[in-house]
Amino acid sequence: MRGMFIAFEGGEAAGKSTQETLLAASLVQAGRAVVRTREPGGTPAGEAIREIVLSPAYEGLDPHAEALLFAAARGEHVARIIRPALQRGAVVVCDRYIDSSIAYQGAARGLGIERVRELSLWATDGLLPDLTLVLDIDPVIGLSRVTSPDRLESESVTYHRQVRQAFLDLAAAEPNRYLVLDASATQQEIAGQIWQRVADELDAR
Ligand code: TYD
Repeated sequence: MRGMFIAFEGGEAAGKSTQETLLAASLVQAGRAVVRTREPGGTPAGEAIREIVLSPAYEGLDPHAEALLFAAARGEHVARIIRPALQRGAVVVCDRYIDSSIAYQGAARGLGIERVRELSLWATDGLLPDLTLVLDIDPVIGLSRVTSPDRLESESVTYHRQVRQAFLDLAAAEPNRYLVLDASATQQEIAGQIWQRVADELDAR
């Protein structure tokens, strides 16, 4: 059985973790081994990098350093967790992946989409998700739900609008590798749309 790599992307407080939990439960019910993980993080070194990139203590972190730290955490995560899980035939459900770097650092931070994409492709030996689920939300709504903002959540609404647009552009460019979901729909509606797509892809394998 071949593994499947599913990434969740989207703005702040779009409801990704709820949908990850529901998807993981459906997958287990369908008899699949599931590895649920997140970025930045997923390994001890990755969690240490997470502390640096999210902590408001490092306000003003150089954008290049920020992009390199996310890519470093990703390289470690792929090598130690994601590739081994896929090789065992598991379905990997990952909270954020390369597209978060493209949207947050490449587009909104202005480092350049292609450059940031190349950096992460180098870090991961080119591993891309089989399917990326984008939970699309108006950043004004998402940010209003955040109670104690981390370093990135503290960025302006303009920054977060650029993030949102970048995700939508990535999805529009490759519709067969993406599904965009309206995060204002009910949890059950969203979960239903996700399961329909994932089940179809698993059947087709
Ligand atoms: P997290 O608390 O996991 O946010 P969320 O619950 O919204 O997923 O924090 C991750 C933050 O890091 C989020 O603001 C997005 C940002 N990020 C990047 O800027 N670049 C990246 O490559 C990744 C993976 C995350």
